Amino acid sequence: MPMDHPTPEPQAVCSPITGSAIFIVATLAPGGDAAAKVRAWCTDIAALTRSVGKRVPSGNLSCICGFGSSAWNILFGSPRPASLHGFREFGAEGRRAVATPGDILLHIRAEQMDLCFELATQLLSSLGDAVSVVDEVQGFRYFDMRSIIGFVDGTENPVGRKAAHFTMVGDEDPLFAAGSYVLVQKYLHNMTAWNALSVEAQERVIGRTKLSDIELDDSIKPSCSHSALTTITKDGQEVKILRDNMPFGRPGAGEFGTYFIGYARSPEPMEQMLENMFVGKPPGNYDRLLDFSTAVTGGLFFVPSADLLEELADREPFHT
Ligand code: HEM
Repeated sequence: MPMDHPTPEPQAVCSPITGSAIFIVATLAPGGDAAAKVRAWCTDIAALTRSVGKRVPSGNLSCICGFGSSAWNILFGSPRPASLHGFREFGAEGRRAVATPGDILLHIRAEQMDLCFELATQLLSSLGDAVSVVDEVQGFRYFDMRSIIGFVDGTENPVGRKAAHFTMVGDEDPLFAAGSYVLVQKYLHNMTAWNALSVEAQERVIGRTKLSDIELDDSIKPSCSHSALTTITKDGQEVKILRDNMPFGRPGAGEFGTYFIGYARSPEPMEQMLENMFVGKPPGNYDRLLDFSTAVTGGLFFVPSADLLEELADREPFHT
């Protein structure tokens, strides 16, 4: 049925939490042929997700695709999403939110890893040598929604209409409505040092109780706790982001990690959180989680609406 002001269909940003995920960051090969191949592939994503997902309807398979700032110019030219820029590094005194190369992000989620694995295989095979994968992480859900450091992760995420409000671009950038910005960072944890802390000390780092996941009372919650530094306001209103972090690791190699992924309608709140965590608020009052966690990757991407993603396949960029 025709509508006067159709709202574009978003990608699966607000889809329910799943048991497994694969995160892939790739760089674009040089040359016009590679760019043309990636553009054509934009229409394959939804079709391949349908084909793989249909085989296990209860598996809740979804795929989100985002593009980095310089890749956007090469692939699609102008117009560009108003707030898309390269990942901004923050840091002080040995703590650093590093920027690492990345032109395309794939966030593949499903209840079971076989679905994620099959879709990743199909999507990458369709891209061929048009891209090089620079980072690939298989994430798993750990006990009752806990991060690898043992605390429940994701509790304060917005839900329902609020999730859409905080993650979808609206009238501020009408050509890119229903798109989102996504920030990713791969963290490695020093579990020996973390586990040497008492549970009470760990709770002061996060700002919540460990077993019951209740926020510490303001009278005892340190201003340098993770929860205090990532709670931000603008014009007196709290600004939320939507996270779906996943644990990953290789125990035999001593690797224990958190893949951080955050969605928002602008990069600004996520960058404010990073500044609070890495530099501190006020400077020096930094997030003590970083004494046990090192960011080894960092990327910022724009996720076009599902409708725009299809249209992008036919873009003829003015500037290449
Ligand atoms: C080392 C990687 C990280 C780990 C293990 C981690 C873990 C956690 C945990 C356990 C919580 C408390 C429960 C909840 O989700 O509400 C939390 C809250 C939160 N985290 Fe992180 N996080 C990490 C990195 C980040 C980063 C890089 C950001 C932002 C750029 C961030 C933003 C937030 C926000 C917004 C909250 C909710 C705060 C609130 O409203 O109380 N986290 N995180």
